[in-house]
Amino acid sequence: MNSTQKRPSDVVRFEARETLGVVLIDSPPLNVLTGQVIAGLADALDAFERDRSLRALVVCCAGRTFVVGGDLHALDSAEFTSAPYNHILARLESCDRPVFCALHGNVLGGGLELALACHYRVALVDTRLGLPEIKIGVLPGSLGTQRLPRLIPAQDAISMMLSGQAIDARAAFKSGLIDLIDEVHPNALESGVRFAEAQLSRGAGARPTRALPVKAEGLPRDYFTKKLAEAEKSPVPAARAIVECVQVAVEDSFDVGEQLEALRFDQCRRSKQSTAMRHVFFAEREARQVPGIGAGTDQRVLRKIGVVGAGTMGAGIAMNFMNIGIPTVLLETRQELLDKGLANIRATYNSGVKKGRLDETTARRRLECLEGTLQEGDLADCDLVIEAVFEDLELKQSLMRRLGRICRQGAILATNTSTLDVDAIALASGRASDVVGLHFFSPAHVMRLLEVVRGARTSPDVLATTVALAGRLGKVPVVSGVCYGFVGNRMAEPYMREAEFLLLEGATPQQIDDAVQDVLRLGMAMGPCRMLDLAGIDVGAKTLIELGKQGGLPPDPSYRVVCQQLFRDGRWGQKTGSGYYRYVGRAREPEPLTSDVCEILANEFDIRRGRTISDGEICERLMLPLINEGFRILEEEIAMRPGDIDVVWTAGYGFPAHRGGPMWMANAWGLPNVLDRIQHYQRTLGNRFGYWTPAKLLVELAQQGATINRLAASKAGVA
Ligand code: NAI
Repeated sequence: MNSTQKRPSDVVRFEARETLGVVLIDSPPLNVLTGQVIAGLADALDAFERDRSLRALVVCCAGRTFVVGGDLHALDSAEFTSAPYNHILARLESCDRPVFCALHGNVLGGGLELALACHYRVALVDTRLGLPEIKIGVLPGSLGTQRLPRLIPAQDAISMMLSGQAIDARAAFKSGLIDLIDEVHPNALESGVRFAEAQLSRGAGARPTRALPVKAEGLPRDYFTKKLAEAEKSPVPAARAIVECVQVAVEDSFDVGEQLEALRFDQCRRSKQSTAMRHVFFAEREARQVPGIGAGTDQRVLRKIGVVGAGTMGAGIAMNFMNIGIPTVLLETRQELLDKGLANIRATYNSGVKKGRLDETTARRRLECLEGTLQEGDLADCDLVIEAVFEDLELKQSLMRRLGRICRQGAILATNTSTLDVDAIALASGRASDVVGLHFFSPAHVMRLLEVVRGARTSPDVLATTVALAGRLGKVPVVSGVCYGFVGNRMAEPYMREAEFLLLEGATPQQIDDAVQDVLRLGMAMGPCRMLDLAGIDVGAKTLIELGKQGGLPPDPSYRVVCQQLFRDGRWGQKTGSGYYRYVGRAREPEPLTSDVCEILANEFDIRRGRTISDGEICERLMLPLINEGFRILEEEIAMRPGDIDVVWTAGYGFPAHRGGPMWMANAWGLPNVLDRIQHYQRTLGNRFGYWTPAKLLVELAQQGATINRLAASKAGVA
């Protein structure tokens, strides 16, 4: 054991407090269930069992949270088993003296399963409880599926496990998951001791959860048949497994349920879906680590934020800061535009209140953080100013020129451009080291991804500050270098290109979207035509026009002509009621005008229509160029790691996490196979404009029989 390794007694302490035994888990920062913690729990239980003078046991955690779950790295080991932990939980549950659990912070996964095995539960007001295992493609593996439906109704238990969402202390109390909310005591230890004393004085005895009847009153007869059929549609096998295990809890014994849960847990853990989802989980954490930037890098203080432009993005960006209580100034050019932006923000909060997502006081407090202005001078004392004006290089440069002069020394200047040259924008400011790209995704207050674009001159403390800021905003940052469209939009460009060629060749928008949305094939949240209709065809077309001005388009007159034609026709997607589809109210219908446009354009560019295009071809034609572009992005070091690309696509573009992101999927397909299919399309479709030229890096890796994992390791400097 080296000196940094902790002993079980370092992370779990047992002490007698008068007549109570207290187990305190103290393994900062998150009290994760490592091997040491599990061994420490076993030792603590031994000590409690030895001391018969103690009347009861209190289990709680030190630090800012209760146990947030197991050590996910352990799941990768072939021999992994939850048996040792489950054994401890069984011992805890079968104590003949009452076992109390005091909760605070996040009580997640194995942490909640620990709480479920205790006899009584109290929680501080700030507590959140959940079983998020489904998010990494598994089910709760420490009897969560059997104990939860003994404390809360079986239907609620299933919903909680299928959604993976945590609930707050109030909801937990209402459902029966906890026995009391403690609004008085300052910490979990105090709370647990007082709770235990109060319960003991009322004569509380041991109450093993497994001995409680399952709460299944009023379940419709066909409940499980329907639920299983629904879960069957999920691409993640854990969904069905959860329903199955709860069904056994309802219909059979605890022991049978235990066996089934163990079996299903192991199958799910080994499934390709769970492996991919765990990859995304770790990739998100790794993405926050930027070479050259560490704990020692200074960070700038952000107390006041400025946002320029109160349009779609500006309003959404402002809400991010208002949500965490940071004073925010929103700048517009004209009063009516400012009023419109402010009204949109108010409407979003009001709708949140109506839907019960936030209370009125919180909404009011957030709105109080916002100030609208028409005076650029009001940005002078902001610590970070983010511009979200129209996607026009000259406009952004002239604005940056003024911001460079107006904003205080040391303020960070950020651009939300989705495609333009961040270095050219930075240079205009006259203080390029203060400039960074902060590419939010629409809707900006909802989408988790934040691309942080590092300019040639961006200073390390600006990068460190903005990467950390993403965490405060609840977003996942991915650092990208400067190029057209950064990681995400650059890869989306060939994806949209092929979608449009398929339209010209006779596929319908519906066929294309359905093919990539089909969970068995791919499972994208939204196909390309729906996506552009939602984002605005005008936005897409203007980006193309801007790219053309800078000489960035291929010399192909048929390049994305559908999008450009729809733009000229004023058919800008959902906002105008017609785009690739027609919109009647909220309903989406086929748009006959689109097939007419495609037919005319196909004739004009001599593109043959009428052959049958299979769904398989659609998926390959959309995915292969996107993956190929991903390899180029790695080659050029625009993205630091393949995992970063996967995070961009899963967190920002609705790419299914159970496929691990495009680069992980390429790996799963096999790189030689990816290369072979690209070459197939090169032969069958032609390659006049280089659309099907494979990236050098892909060719190299495919020829070596290497995988993308090896590339990730070599990039991170691991031998
Ligand atoms: P928008 O057209 O909805 O809003 C732009 C706003 O900026 C307008 O209200 C305009 O009046 C205002 N504005 C223009 N010049 C200004 C100035 N000098 N001072 C103050 N306000 C000014 O556009 P949107 O969609 O919000 O896009 C803004 C930026 O965000 C663009 O660079 C775009 O590429 C980028 N972006 C857009 C996304 C989208 O899905 N719409 C996604 C990610 C980035």
